Amino acid sequence: MTMTISPSKPLSGTVALPGDKSLSHRSALFATLAAGHSRIENFLISGVTSRMLDALTRMSIPWKLEGTTLTVDGKGIGGFSVPFAPLNCGNSATTIRFLAGALAASGTPAVLDGSEGLRRRPMDRIILPLQQMGVNIKGNNGFAPISLGVSQLPLKGGTYIVPVSSAQVKSCLLLAGLSAREPVTVEEPGFSRDHTERMLAGMGVSIHSEKKVIDGSPRYLTHLIPPSTNYSLKPLNMTIPGDFSSAAFLIVAALITPGSEITLKNIGLNATRTGLLDVLLSMGASIQIVARPSSNGEPVGDLTVRHSPLKGININGEQVVRMIDEFPIFAVAAAYAEGASIVKDASELRLKESDRISSLVAELKNLGADVEESTDGFTIHGHGGLIGGEMNPHGDHRLAMSMAIAGLASASPVTIQQPEIMDESFPGFANTLSGIGADIKVNSENTVKESVQA
Ligand code: S3P
Repeated sequence: MTMTISPSKPLSGTVALPGDKSLSHRSALFATLAAGHSRIENFLISGVTSRMLDALTRMSIPWKLEGTTLTVDGKGIGGFSVPFAPLNCGNSATTIRFLAGALAASGTPAVLDGSEGLRRRPMDRIILPLQQMGVNIKGNNGFAPISLGVSQLPLKGGTYIVPVSSAQVKSCLLLAGLSAREPVTVEEPGFSRDHTERMLAGMGVSIHSEKKVIDGSPRYLTHLIPPSTNYSLKPLNMTIPGDFSSAAFLIVAALITPGSEITLKNIGLNATRTGLLDVLLSMGASIQIVARPSSNGEPVGDLTVRHSPLKGININGEQVVRMIDEFPIFAVAAAYAEGASIVKDASELRLKESDRISSLVAELKNLGADVEESTDGFTIHGHGGLIGGEMNPHGDHRLAMSMAIAGLASASPVTIQQPEIMDESFPGFANTLSGIGADIKVNSENTVKESVQA
């Protein structure tokens, strides 16, 4: 299958987006830790979240999806039954890392595995601290498959220093900390997304974060006090806001397509996620933000975005963490800007769904960008546009969607190989874009099977 995106007329309209991926993963899993019935609306039904739901089924947790409403009947911490076969986490690092923490807290033996792509992603960052907490866990030389044996509960508390800011690692350790004897502190160099903290706090867990300067450098500490053994976490009753990381594609789509104006409704605007908004505003973007009532402690708002001339910008340091998933689409904005954009301190991008520095640089070059790779980032010399061409998504959903957006305003069309990968996080991407006026065609085996042009 391929997808071809041709230079489009102005984009216009109002769009509601699928639920946030990070909140969907957390809500499904955390609901199992409560004793009782949880109801989660606007749940993201996608490739990666279906891996989480499938794992819950294999551990005998009852859940049901009606439309996009997920209900889960949680059995409390320790309520998983032992899965017979390895839990297949597919391409989802969030699923494997979160499950490792939750299984550790419940003392349930299991094997966690995934796709070839997932087997290339580092797991020592969770395995080593979990071992220090007393969890009986091992990997395959630091990678999946990961095996958890029976562990002695309660686990050990204490301070765990995470060398690279990662909400997946932080969340894994906090989940394990629910069954620790003493308080658990996770220390990181930058403040990674704090959805776990907000959701667990809403479920009655004592948890808070603080910033400290240690040896002259800022450090972010998250402290969790394990609930007493007779305390049950409160079930969830929540509506998940639209995913800012999906909104990011549409924001850049409107910014680069001449004459466009679109509104995105009810988008999650947690400040630990919205680094790209600040960056685009500094580049000259016209984005109007209207706050809406927050949803379960998560800020929400509507965004109105208008086509804007953009100028280059430099990104480094803590800013990187706040937009860790948005570099592929940022790079497209930078290619359409005038002037140089330099990204530094972002070597973590090499450990995502693809090596997001080399794959991004290679594919942008294919589309005519003037771009150079560095060890910890890249430089793009923006010349106000791209030429177009064919691209290989390297098995990376965000790379595929970013290059699709690039085709909306390129001199000639952009064709994406294997666009199915987009369903990992944003099912309906092509339909959503065609609904606001984009010219997109999906081709199956060289025959135009489906046209989703508006
Ligand atoms: C996620 C955290 C991020 C992000 C991923 C989702 C989460 O990973 O890249 O898409 O939901 O916690 P890291 O925290 O490991 O950077």
